[in-house]
Amino acid sequence: MEKTQKDNFGSRLGFILAAAGSAVGLGNIWRFPYLAAKYGGGIFLIVYIALAVTFGFALMVTEIALGRKTGKSVIGAYKTVKKGFGFLGWIAAIVPFIITPYYCVIGGWVLKYLVTFMTAKGQEAAGEGEFFKGFIGQAGQPLVFFVIFAVLTAAVVILGVQKGIEKISKFLMPLLVVLIIGIVIYTLTLPGAMDGVKYYLLPNIDGFTAGTWLKTLAAAMGQLFYSMSLAMGIMVTYGSYMRKEDSIEKSVRSIEIFDTAIAVLAGLIVVPSVFIFSGGNASQLNAGPSLMFITLPNVFDSMKGGQIIGSLFFMLVALAALTSSISLLETMVSIISEKFKLKRAVSTAIALAFVFVFGAFSVFGYSIWDKVTILGYQILDFFDFISNNMMMPFVAFLTCILIGFVAKTKYIEDEVLIGEENFKAKKLYRVMVRYICPVCMILILITPFIFEL
Ligand code: PHE
Repeated sequence: MEKTQKDNFGSRLGFILAAAGSAVGLGNIWRFPYLAAKYGGGIFLIVYIALAVTFGFALMVTEIALGRKTGKSVIGAYKTVKKGFGFLGWIAAIVPFIITPYYCVIGGWVLKYLVTFMTAKGQEAAGEGEFFKGFIGQAGQPLVFFVIFAVLTAAVVILGVQKGIEKISKFLMPLLVVLIIGIVIYTLTLPGAMDGVKYYLLPNIDGFTAGTWLKTLAAAMGQLFYSMSLAMGIMVTYGSYMRKEDSIEKSVRSIEIFDTAIAVLAGLIVVPSVFIFSGGNASQLNAGPSLMFITLPNVFDSMKGGQIIGSLFFMLVALAALTSSISLLETMVSIISEKFKLKRAVSTAIALAFVFVFGAFSVFGYSIWDKVTILGYQILDFFDFISNNMMMPFVAFLTCILIGFVAKTKYIEDEVLIGEENFKAKKLYRVMVRYICPVCMILILITPFIFEL
């Protein structure tokens, strides 16, 4: 059945690149490398890859098939599967409304760094963090960069799925691959880089206790979730624009390989370069959020050609963040236009206005409202915590229950089989959705209460 009235992706490659564009984001370039360094290097990589091809695969297949089968936004999709589960669609739908504003705020920070490096002022960003704190500590500039980033995102979304999202992804994703490979090659040729590579890739279980294993597993799972843009309606939305003749199973395999490869490559830039800079002191990698905005500028400052590498690096991050925020905004737009029966342009304008208001809260959370905390979190961190650690695992858990036990996995398998001879990973899929994924979700939900991650 051709869904002619809808604006669909025009090709399988277009779909894969757009979905990979959503998946590849700040999570791959900034978060993955430091988690890998923190949780035993090669151990984390092995755990992560094993989870990606099993657990991540099953969840992504479920979401994309759900979207394509129902042809609806996330709210409509869940309701179509089972009336009583409509609430789940609503919870999933709230997540992009929470994430998009602050994601665009961070996108704005990246733009600021890109401009700083491109205008050859990268050395100003080096130091103990005065530059970063000085920047986010004022209200005006971060607001301007945030607005620019949000408007760029909306400019693509307003053009539609095929003319906007697909077109830009087909151009930006190959560029991103070229950039990352170029920077990896440069980094690996720096003297001393190989020690960093060893630290990153070789498994290191010194001091690993049962608790560390559990933490590693929970960290890898949490990262996977976020990195594959799961449990927030994005893959359901993109799935609803997918053509019936394209293979879901093969597409998901490609997206998963793309996403993981970019994360692993990003680690090959970040870990060795920080390693060289710090003279082998791995603790610098543990800097969390400040790794990207404080540590790396110092690393580039100390590097030959650092100004150029810094510019290319922040360009890479900006592109990755942009294709992710496009998918977030598109999900909001699909919800608004379906619910209120509005045209794309009007829905995009409403979504953008929402992003402006809530993004401004996050911006002000570091400046004029820096005393405001919610449950002990800064405003941006609060949004991040509640969406990633609570709502997303909860949505994924109930999705597995819905598909595994209420609607039954055949509901999804039938969609995966359209135009295909077989669903190769069917057995794996069933076991994952019915048993392993729900257990893993509970693990993610409770770990933050047991340990500080
Ligand atoms: N997957 C993106 C990343 O790795 C993050 C993201 C989360 C994108 C939510 C869109 C929505 O950074």
